[in-house]
Amino acid sequence: MVDHSLNATVASWLRHHGALARFDLELALCHILDCSRAYVLTHPDRALTRPELDQLEHWSEQLYKHVPVAYLCGNQEFWGLSLTVDHRVLVPRPDTETLVEQALACVDQRDRSPATGAALTLLDLGTGSGAIALALASERPEAEVHAYDRSLDSLAVARENSRSLKLPVTFHHSDWFENISQRYDLIVSNPPYIAPADPHLSLLGAEPAHALVANDNGLADLRTICEGAGAFLQTHGWLLLEHGYNQAAAVRSLLSDNGFIDVQSRRDLGGNERVTWGQKPWDQALSAHE
Ligand SMILES: C[S@@+](CC[C@H](N)C(=O)[O-])C[C@H]1O[C@@H](n2cnc3c(N)ncnc32)[C@H](O)[C@@H]1O
Repeated sequence: MVDHSLNATVASWLRHHGALARFDLELALCHILDCSRAYVLTHPDRALTRPELDQLEHWSEQLYKHVPVAYLCGNQEFWGLSLTVDHRVLVPRPDTETLVEQALACVDQRDRSPATGAALTLLDLGTGSGAIALALASERPEAEVHAYDRSLDSLAVARENSRSLKLPVTFHHSDWFENISQRYDLIVSNPPYIAPADPHLSLLGAEPAHALVANDNGLADLRTICEGAGAFLQTHGWLLLEHGYNQAAAVRSLLSDNGFIDVQSRRDLGGNERVTWGQKPWDQALSAHE
């Protein structure tokens, strides 16, 4: 703990908590001092008042317990959108922007195909805070965007984000495909994919387990989605999945085994294969999957 009788400054507080992620500490300072990151970086000698220091110390205790700084601030930036987040939802990760980028690339490809005249329909499965669905809605205002989650708590956060950002997404409650009744041009999902025994889980204890953990070595939900998606895709529609850094080959097999073609993976900013997708080729009348 910082000795409150000393004259604490921005620099001394940052130094004192050098074991924590520097970026998280800077965000905490921005929030509590109500200033920009540039201000924090350029005013190391700014004195901290007693109430500021007390609040900063409370936050640093939470950070040592692996509470995400986004929960403390109450928001997280994703795709340039400021999303409200709390303990009810997974904090959207920058890696997931790779999934959004690829989804938009697939939609662009559809635009270049002979026009069907039908409205573009997009589905986000396991929407959490609504991050992916809202990013897609922000880029494709003409699209009909639907998003599902099994957690009513998550849906409440997602609806709040949709309202505050004024981005129209229709949210529904469902256990994966259970309550879905229409077909989409593109289905995107970042499902739980961490194995129950994965040691990284101990660092993620503040986030909801239902958003993180999947049986069968982390593949159970990815498998359910690969097996079920064909029935809810238009012919030539795409299924895109985020997965763990070591699951790309398994997900490519799941997609191929379920009849998808043009199966490919894409790396995230860290260089890990993070997103895998495929296209539904079959004619509905010939489908063995429906
Ligand atoms: C990894 S989080 C992704 C959240 C958000 N899409 C994102 O990328 O930040 C997975 C989400 O899937 C939801 N989920 C888990 N099991 C589900 C199921 N059986 N049916 C529907 N949603 C489910 C969780 O509630 C959680 O919101």
